[in-house]
Order: sequence, then C-alpha cells, then structure tokens
Amino acid sequence: MKVMVVGGGGREHALCWKLNESASVQEIICAPGNPGIGQVARCITVGAEDIEGLLALAVAEAPDLVVVGPEVALVLGLADRLRTLGFAVFGPSAAAAQLEGSKAFSKEIMQQAGVATAAFEVHHDIADAEALIHRWGAPIVIKASGLAAGKGVVIATDVATAIAAARDMLSGNRFGNAGTEIVIEACLQGEEASCLFIVAGETIVPLASSQDHKALSEGDTGPNTGGMGAYSPAPCVTKSVADTVLNDIVRPVITTLKERGIPFIGVLYAGIMICEDGPKTLEFNVRFGDPECQPLMMRLQSDLAEILLAAANNTLPDAPLQWRDEPALCVVVASSGYPANFQKGQAIDGLEEMEAMGVTVFHAGTAMNAGQLINNGGRVLGVTASASDLAKARHCVYAALKKLRWHGAYYRQDIAHRALRDV
Ligand code: AMP
Ligand code: GLY
Repeated sequence: MKVMVVGGGGREHALCWKLNESASVQEIICAPGNPGIGQVARCITVGAEDIEGLLALAVAEAPDLVVVGPEVALVLGLADRLRTLGFAVFGPSAAAAQLEGSKAFSKEIMQQAGVATAAFEVHHDIADAEALIHRWGAPIVIKASGLAAGKGVVIATDVATAIAAARDMLSGNRFGNAGTEIVIEACLQGEEASCLFIVAGETIVPLASSQDHKALSEGDTGPNTGGMGAYSPAPCVTKSVADTVLNDIVRPVITTLKERGIPFIGVLYAGIMICEDGPKTLEFNVRFGDPECQPLMMRLQSDLAEILLAAANNTLPDAPLQWRDEPALCVVVASSGYPANFQKGQAIDGLEEMEAMGVTVFHAGTAMNAGQLINNGGRVLGVTASASDLAKARHCVYAALKKLRWHGAYYRQDIAHRALRDV
C-alpha cells in the first residue's frame, strides 16, 4: 500500500520509520516531513495545517491510507474531509478531536462518563475565576481550554500566580482564542503516565505504557513543554492501573462519545495521574504522544501499517499487539531557550557517529540549508535507543549525545529518573 503521513515532527519520523518496516507498505509520502523523514519517505512541502493543500495532495497521490499525526489538522476537520472523499483515514473526526481541542468539552465528557478526574470549573470571566481561586487556594491548576502545544497549563503554587495566569489567558494575551476559556482544576499529586489506545468504534486496543517528562528541567521543574523525553514501559503502570484506565476511563469515554453520535477512530491518549486512590485523568489527546511515540515505535513488533489500516476501515481485530520486552528511551534535544525564544539556523553535526553507537535519531524541528542540517524549531531531535534494561538504554542515549555537535543544544540529563530511582 501507499501511505500518506501528515506532520513533520519526531512522532511522524517514528511513524514513518516503523511503517517503512512493514511488508505491506510500498511507498510512504509525508507532508511536510523533515530531513530525517526524507530518509524513509518522499516529503512534500505541504504544511500540516494546510487543510486544502493536504486534500489536494491526497487526491493527486491517491494513498491507500492517510495517517494524521498532529492534533491541529484533526481539530480543523482534516479526517472528516478526507473520509468524505473516500480515503481510509487513521485519525478522529473534528467532533471527536474536541476531546483534545477543548479541555472544557473533555471535562464535560469525563463528568458525563463518570471518569475519575480532578475537580474543576470552567470560566470565561476574570472576576469569577479570581473568586474561585481565592476559595480553593493554592496549589491550583489553570489551563487554557484550547490548543496550546502542551504549554497552556500553569501549576500555581500560590494564589497570586494563579490569578496572574488566569488573567493572562482570559485577556487573550498569552494563547489568543485558546485562552479565552479556562479550566481551573484541583491539583493532583502522584506519578504521571501516558496510556495510549488504538480505537476503532467499539474496539479498543492498548499500546504499551510510557512516561513523558513534560517539564523543561531536571527533577521535573521549570515550565511545561511539549515533552522533553519519554520511555516505555512505565513501571508505575501496573496491570491493575492499566486495567482501570481501560475499563473505568477509556471505555466509558468512548461509549459516552458514541451516545452523542461521535464515533472514534484513531489514538486516544489518556494522560493519567496515579494517585493514592487510583488513576485519575489529567487530559485526553487524540493522537500519538510526542515523544512517547518514539520509544513505542521502537518496541512495537506488530505490523503498524496493518493495524492503522484496519482501524481506519473499522475492522481492527480485538487482539493484543506484540511488543519487544526490551525497554526503549528517547531524550529530546531542544533549541536552548525553548519553550520561550530560541535561535534557528544553527549547524547540527555528529548524527552519523551517534547512530553508529546504536541510537536512532528521530528528527523533529530540523531543516537543510545549503547541504547543512540546521535547527528549525523548539524540539529538534529525539535520540532513542532500546536495550536489555532501561538503565542500559539510557546509558546508550547519553553516551551517543556526547557526540552531538550543535552549540545550541539543550536536553535533560535525567530522563527515566522515576523508573531508575532505585538503580
Ligand atoms: P495537560 O496538558 O492537561 O496534561 O497538562 C500538562 C501537565 O500539567 C500534565 O502533564 C501534568 O504534569 C500537569 N497537570 C495538569 N493537570 C494537573 C492537575 N490537575 N494536577 C496536577 N498536575 C496537573
Ligand atoms: N508528550 C505529550 C503530548 O504529546 O501531548
């Protein structure tokens, strides 16, 4: 089959890399892709948010399957438009994508489905928001309801910070329209994990567990980012936690959506906090996590193309996927200054030497300039390895990173610290 992948980040590189292993895949095209993806797919410079351009590309290329990586295109209705044209699409409708596109909608669905989540209120007015913040006190969580590339959440440890964040969001200064509705939540304590599922109608197939590191700095401190590293499996996701997430969180949410006339095809990603009284939902995403996808694809043994095509056709078998036992770990290398301001256009070298040491370097925000690889975004590389145990995988990645020659590189030194705290 010919597969079209939409997106140009580390997640899409990992997806293309895995699709390229599949016996049933003859050709992969990727829009817009990136220089790393170009090693395994034909990249076409149509932006991942250019819905009309992507539709025209699909019509011209006639892929047998379209896989939509990023959330923005899904929220904008790309999957609906492609399905109307008769394409097999892996990715949810705009209506289903509201689970990620509107945190207020997501909370409403969780409430209706009876799913464990933090207490919350939705606010549009700063005076009402301030009153609630004073009533609940700190710590308290302030979230922009709309899409904010993983950066729209402030965990405020004092009331003044919470009020400033709420004001900043509601005024439209910080996230534009995405912030003019906010969700104010009670702050949950516990360990976080990412639980992803391939969903096609009633069929829900779990992916292996993983854990992301959303904070910028070591020890999970500093501002939230799109994700600074991830590994799989996450030991905190015991069988009992995994069963609870499937049966008490994901199944009821899919059923509730269906009752509202919103079927789901794609990845449902439950970000969970494992609290003392069990797992609670922090958020839903409607696509593979980035960077969780990178270690997950390294561990997946089943044929990715077959799974995604079956899901797209609503014929996904209700059978577990096959995974390598070896853990895998990804360290994200970002442009220093990310998630705020950073410089683009710096030369990046040393990737061949790194790969010779056993890692796979997934590209995210890279570009080519006159034959030289340069940084072109906030999160730039996902250096990923698997090994017989997690400590060895981590050692392999950090040893390879010593060979990276890029003066603006920033990465966390402690990816997987929670799983390895006893080592
Ligand atoms: P979200 O985009 O909603 O997952 O939020 C991003 C990150 O903020 C999460 O991965 C958590 O680390 C943190 N977070 C979100 N909601 C809460 C909450 N209610 N309590 C504690 N931490 C939270
Ligand atoms: N890694 C978190 C996300 O993809 O939203």
